[in-house]
Amino acid sequence: MTSAESMEANPLAAGLEQGRRAPPGVLVVFGASGDLTARKLMPAVASLARRRLLPSTFAVVGVARSPMSDDDFRSKLIDAVPDGGPAWAELVKGFRYVSGAYGGADTMERLKAVLEEVDADRGTSGNRLFYLATVPSVFEPVADALGAAGLNSASRPDSFVRLVIEKPFGRDLASAQHLDDALHRNFDETQIYRIDHYLGKETVQNVLALRFANAIFEPIWDRRYVDHVQITVAEALGVEHRGGFYETAGALRDIVQNHVMQVLSLTLMEPPATIDAQGIRDEKVKVLRAVKIMSVEQVPTDVVRAQYEAGWSEGIAVPGYREEDGVAPDSRTETYVAMKLEVDNWRWAGVPIFVRTGKRLPKRVTEVALQFQRVPHLPFRAHESRDLHPNALVLRIQPDEGISLRFGAKVPGQAFEVRDVLMDFSYGAAFLEEAPDAYERLLLDAMIGDPTLFIRSDEVLQSWCIVDPILTAWASKDTPLARYPAGTWGPKQADQLLAREGRRWRTP
Ligand SMILES: NC(=O)c1ccc[n+]([C@@H]2O[C@H](COP(=O)([O-])OP(=O)(O)OC[C@H]3O[C@@H](n4cnc5c(N)ncnc54)[C@H](OP(=O)(O)O)[C@@H]3O)[C@@H](O)[C@H]2O)c1
Repeated sequence: MTSAESMEANPLAAGLEQGRRAPPGVLVVFGASGDLTARKLMPAVASLARRRLLPSTFAVVGVARSPMSDDDFRSKLIDAVPDGGPAWAELVKGFRYVSGAYGGADTMERLKAVLEEVDADRGTSGNRLFYLATVPSVFEPVADALGAAGLNSASRPDSFVRLVIEKPFGRDLASAQHLDDALHRNFDETQIYRIDHYLGKETVQNVLALRFANAIFEPIWDRRYVDHVQITVAEALGVEHRGGFYETAGALRDIVQNHVMQVLSLTLMEPPATIDAQGIRDEKVKVLRAVKIMSVEQVPTDVVRAQYEAGWSEGIAVPGYREEDGVAPDSRTETYVAMKLEVDNWRWAGVPIFVRTGKRLPKRVTEVALQFQRVPHLPFRAHESRDLHPNALVLRIQPDEGISLRFGAKVPGQAFEVRDVLMDFSYGAAFLEEAPDAYERLLLDAMIGDPTLFIRSDEVLQSWCIVDPILTAWASKDTPLARYPAGTWGPKQADQLLAREGRRWRTP
């Protein structure tokens, strides 16, 4: 009996997690010479193998233009997972590499031949997961070339072919629609898995558990009790060495269109009948459709865009955005955006949803805060309740994942002074289980064929519908661009956005 067989014979030793184990198959990575492959995908594959969630009938085939032999590729993968040990070195022995132009017919012919060899050698059963881990400009040519080579459909009646695609899914509504058409020319929507790694995070999935596994939160999760919602995605880092890339993106495309819209939809959607792909994705898209589409004229009032200037980050002097490598000295790309959104449905009518995201803010934090309404009458004297604020429920997505509830409590002593206290749940303290990395979770889901945590075409397009008028407004040179010193919580205009409604940003 081989070690893999003995582990398969013993489910406990095999570490099977609730029966979730990948079927036989090949992960074909386009862009296999790149950063995502080395930093995220291969460590995820190695970890899945370590947890015995991959069968012995699994293999990786890398595709990229860089000339490499199979052995060069394997050495690169061993280097990419320094803690992989002998088991990883053994696994990669079966991995293959195909070098060639991404959309080239000859690349696809060679890939096809290699896949047939791998099926014969490794028993991968004709199952293929194509993963586009390369630049977005080649998504369309690769999809077309896979289609032209007949690699888009299963070669056997019981095998699968799926396509995993990384953001960005377009640059605006028109290009997203164009990309979608190109994908659908070659693949059925059920074969397409669009990744937003935020959905692979335990805490994002925990929004669903909190809301739908508990009786106490859902009844107050609406306009009658919630005053407003704040979604914050803050990064302490600047653009680092990715100034050139960031110039073509900006905070709205990089964070709001995808991560923020995903978190927003999970937080505000209606309860699905079942926690499955259709149930969840139907509700997510429904609430996205209820987000009011701004007019272009409304953008300067309800959206603030800004860029960081030189300042301090964690005690170190840092340059302004326009001084970063690869950034134009007169760049108007936003590194910060704050906005007010409205959701026109029965549950959320009249509840503003404030969103902010930025680079070079004081700390790295992603959170959703539901701020509840004030009590109708405070029966305490003013000086006794000056440190009391409305209740807030905060879902901390990263770091220090957890949930906290702010409420008022009496300060011990003779007077009746009340003050805010926090009831805090922290993942790290409550559970011994280690959460899988987001890519690990999503890669396994894609291999199993569970699209629940992947983004459906209609969700992507609806998110672009929300963001598109903002891009249109910003295309005009007249739209203001605010400034904020690095290491601060953003420009004063963002504070004014809330202040004019009698609200203020939380300090996470
Ligand atoms: N890196 C991350 O942490 C991360 C996180 C989230 C999403 N993503 C997304 O994942 C995808 C891959 O990201 P990545 O960081 O791995 O990208 P990358 O390292 O820049 O590119 C991956 C590979 O694509 C090929 N390539 C680069 N520029 C190309 C061009 N202009 N034309 C054709 N091929 C080109 C290169 O391989 P060859 O020259 O050998 O062909 C490169 O090794 C992107 O869509 C990105 O937005 C990345």
